[in-house]
Amino acid sequence: MCGIVGYLGKGNAQESLVDGLRRLEYRGYDSAGVAFHEGGEFSLSRETGRVENLANALRGSGSSSSLGIAHTRWATHGSVTVSNTHPHQSHDGKFVLVHNGVIENYGTLKRFLEGKGMSFASETDSEVLCNLIAYHYSELPEDEDRFIDAVRLALPKCRGAYGIAVLCLDYPDVMIGARRGSPLVVGLGEDANFIASDASAFVGRAKEAVFLNDGELAILDKGGFRITTLEGQDAQAVTHPLDQILEEVELGDFDSYMEKEIYEQPAALENTLRGRFGDDGTTAKLGGLEGHEDVLRDLDRIIFVACGTARHACMVGEYMIERLARVPVEVEHASEFRYRNSPKAGKSLVIAVSQSGETLDTLEAVREAKTKGLLTLGMTNVVGSSLARETDGGVYQRVGPEIGVASTKAFSSQVCLSAMLGLALGRMRDLSPMDGQAIVEALNGLPDLVSKVLQQGEQIRELAVKYSKAEHLLFLGRQSLYPVALEGALKLKEISYAHAEGYPAAELKHGPIALISPECPSVFVVEGNDLSSKTIANMQEVKARKGPVLAIAPENIEIPDQAADDVFRLPEAHEVIRPILANLPLQLFAYHFARLRGLDVDKPRNLAKSVTVE
Ligand code: M6R
Repeated sequence: MCGIVGYLGKGNAQESLVDGLRRLEYRGYDSAGVAFHEGGEFSLSRETGRVENLANALRGSGSSSSLGIAHTRWATHGSVTVSNTHPHQSHDGKFVLVHNGVIENYGTLKRFLEGKGMSFASETDSEVLCNLIAYHYSELPEDEDRFIDAVRLALPKCRGAYGIAVLCLDYPDVMIGARRGSPLVVGLGEDANFIASDASAFVGRAKEAVFLNDGELAILDKGGFRITTLEGQDAQAVTHPLDQILEEVELGDFDSYMEKEIYEQPAALENTLRGRFGDDGTTAKLGGLEGHEDVLRDLDRIIFVACGTARHACMVGEYMIERLARVPVEVEHASEFRYRNSPKAGKSLVIAVSQSGETLDTLEAVREAKTKGLLTLGMTNVVGSSLARETDGGVYQRVGPEIGVASTKAFSSQVCLSAMLGLALGRMRDLSPMDGQAIVEALNGLPDLVSKVLQQGEQIRELAVKYSKAEHLLFLGRQSLYPVALEGALKLKEISYAHAEGYPAAELKHGPIALISPECPSVFVVEGNDLSSKTIANMQEVKARKGPVLAIAPENIEIPDQAADDVFRLPEAHEVIRPILANLPLQLFAYHFARLRGLDVDKPRNLAKSVTVE
């Protein structure tokens, strides 16, 4: 989604802002722009396409400004044009503003402002907000708080979500940020302070970060910064150190973040697991669930809400939790749950899962669940994210920043945490200490097994070469490997643009088998238990219709020669970790498939890393 970065300091704003925009590229965008406060006026530069186009346009501009704001736009209101690109400038030239989110009542506000004689240069809701601030400013008497007061008067008139950074020509030393529903963070450095939609925009330049809460304003000036509420009361500013993040967001020797994040899964999963088992070695100990034991022991149902890959991880969790803890589980698309009349059956727990912790549909689902009086827990990777703050408790994934748009290590850690949750809930109910111990041992062995699978990456690359001409592929699996099949299909389509569908293997005969042809390969993820014979029978049905078959199967399962063209072998493993292992070759398959087509896997077309609009 859109990205914001603002700079106020002693140095040259241009370099930090362009660098910040480059670090925000992973979020997905289609145009980029920057505005500097310079020589008593604002100078704007805006380009469609990549940040590189903007950097080229700025090259040689010789800006020496030390105050500026910049933005990457992911189009919502109006097409991808320079005039719709941020920053937007107010009709009188006094304000420039960058905005993430959606102002739902922008039409009404626009008509009001047009009635006051203003005209608009873009089709965006953001320009309306910029002009609304200018309007209030023009109505206020001259005094030192006039800029802040204009922002405070304008924002409550907006319905919807915003994260903004705004500058005023009359205040050459001030930058204001505000948030409601769209993340915003202040970065504190030695020679400069920043406002950004995401701390990665200023890592390496700032030492500490302060995450804004909804309804808060950040006011940065030459003397420092302060956080207030929209009403003007001082708010608490909690600082978080940023030291480790730089290394985590550097690409190192890898070609892409997606590849880096796939290969760092053994270490990432070690972090997810570290210190999270009980002393007797038979259960999981998740700190964020402490204090909720009474509710957890007595649950009637769990509802997972999530989107995309996170939802697939929840679907694996559904199989695991029902098996280990025997609690009924439902998995809902967050976007559907938020508008449903979901019956309030018994004691329900809502678990929201989101790597970014900022996905709007997931947050709204949490808010809806809270309205209904349900206990909400969050599973997220981003410390201090909206999800972490809005839920009653929860667990962090601890896998470090995930920059690649295609989610990889986050999925593995979400599945791992679901297994741990199933274990903890199971041990509160029927699960025996021996079964608990076997699961703890399996989970502790997971990072090594993940390494072992990733070491076979070259074999997957060769398979991707063989199948990379296909334009249509099916992914099939049963039980907890069915969501893995869905995830394999999603990964492939989002980065390679090939058409891929995931199904439960037995559904094949109910329709998808009509697609089978020599041009449509099927990728089967095979279980490590008795069900595998049924999946092998499905593979033979595909082969009988001349469909190519690639099987991903554990070493202990015999695959007859006539059932598959190719077999990729996984190590034998406990059932709770098989879905994670089976998904690894599918991540690598999608990665190589897309690279062989010459595509940029980190910036797939039309996609954003974190979807903060509805
Ligand atoms: O940040 P979240 O986990 O809430 O994101 C949810 C989806 O938008 C995300 O998983 C999306 O499907 C990914 N691009 C998949 O690779």
